[in-house]
Amino acid sequence: MRSNTVTIHEKLCRWIEEAYLPQQPTERITVLTRSACCNLTALAHVTPRFAVGEGFVYAGYESYPCETIPTFITYLEDKPAYRTGALLFKFEKEDGTGFEVLVASDWIDDDNVGIDMMGMACLPPEYADRWLEFEEECSRISRSAIAYKDKVYIVGGKDVTFDAMVKWEDVHLPAELKTTILKDIDSFFEKGVAIYQRLNINPFRKLLLAGVPGTGKTMLCSAIARLSQTKGRFIVYVSGSNRHGAQFWKIHQALDMAASSDMPTIVIVEELDSYLDEDSKAQLLNVLDGSETPNNPCGTVLIATTNHPEIIDDRVLKRPGRVDRIFIIPELSDEEDVERMLSAYLGDQWREEHQTIVPRLLGKPGAFVREVALYALTIAAYQDMDGLPLSLLEESLDTLTRQIEAKDGFLTAHKRAPIGLGPANRRGNGRL
Ligand SMILES: Nc1ncnc2c1ncn2[C@@H]1O[C@H](COP(=O)(O)OP(=O)(O)OP(=O)(O)O)[C@@H](O)[C@H]1O
Ligand SMILES: [Mg+2]
Repeated sequence: MRSNTVTIHEKLCRWIEEAYLPQQPTERITVLTRSACCNLTALAHVTPRFAVGEGFVYAGYESYPCETIPTFITYLEDKPAYRTGALLFKFEKEDGTGFEVLVASDWIDDDNVGIDMMGMACLPPEYADRWLEFEEECSRISRSAIAYKDKVYIVGGKDVTFDAMVKWEDVHLPAELKTTILKDIDSFFEKGVAIYQRLNINPFRKLLLAGVPGTGKTMLCSAIARLSQTKGRFIVYVSGSNRHGAQFWKIHQALDMAASSDMPTIVIVEELDSYLDEDSKAQLLNVLDGSETPNNPCGTVLIATTNHPEIIDDRVLKRPGRVDRIFIIPELSDEEDVERMLSAYLGDQWREEHQTIVPRLLGKPGAFVREVALYALTIAAYQDMDGLPLSLLEESLDTLTRQIEAKDGFLTAHKRAPIGLGPANRRGNGRL
């Protein structure tokens, strides 16, 4: 069910006014509170009797009956996390006096802010500072206790995390291009962030990887993620794979996460063009300008990929500062690169004579070379062959080339009857 922020906020406040306030002996205020206070994993890590300012300590929480908001817990990575409903937090002094804070929370599901937890806290106004200290502690724990730092954290996907598996040396692209991209990222985190800070500029760098399908953009992102983790950087991956598809608020959510991570962070957005409908283009400009981007003092690098730079606005592409660098991820154009890639895919089946087909692979994307190799290896194994004859590799290349030509011919012949490949139909995962 879809409801908006205002409705949830009203629902929580009304319940507090009707069910809780009438029973309170003294004045109370209701304030928006951080979702971390409803995160059971974070709460489990708050030090017992955590001091919240002079004399007062945290004395635990208990569930508070609330019929209006059904209570349920959402698990993250098999740990209990957000809890809807109401919780009563207790704070006390040595002399036995104390105060209580009621927190009511529920999920919001909104086109502008995405799916998020909203919490309202009701407390005696004179203790607001102390509550803020507690809130800050929960928030700090929820960012650090959850073990995402050596995983890639996914925003908007079906899973919560994944492991970046691709090794840097397994990405076969011109060495100079790889070095330039890596140097851009390393120099930004190691030196650039301090310079941006000194100039009072949000340390936020934006790189776009553009290229035809199958040249290795996804692979490169994964390799950058893996390598960056070893350098103490946090990786957030924006995914279009849950039921909301490719929606711009997911990019916002990832940047928020970067800002509260206390770590240098890389945000990866694949197929950026699929997140851009007319409304989102304007939002993208603001996010890229930094005017709507939460500030991460440790620095954030956004790496976006696209097959369709033309869908991304000229205002984005042509003005430096919006996208800082655009790297074209090319098809194979160098015989040495092709040979290295082919021999890597063929492994111990590689033989000198296989070099013969190298020139025919020039101009093709990496995914093509991989398929030529995999098909040939599979057939050789299926036919119990001893080694991989050149003729089989050639056959694999010929059949794949013919298949692609036939597909192109079919699509050209059916051009008058669109079959759902136009930009308007590209929401969702945005894959062509
Ligand atoms: N440069 C490369 N080096 C090594 N393998 C590659 C390279 N490019 C493509 N491949 C192989 O092809 C597969 C598909 O490549 P990948 O998904 O990275 O392409 P992409 O550029 O992201 O494509 P798309 O634009 O369609 O998303 C990879 O998993 C890999 O096996
Ligand atoms: Mg890709």
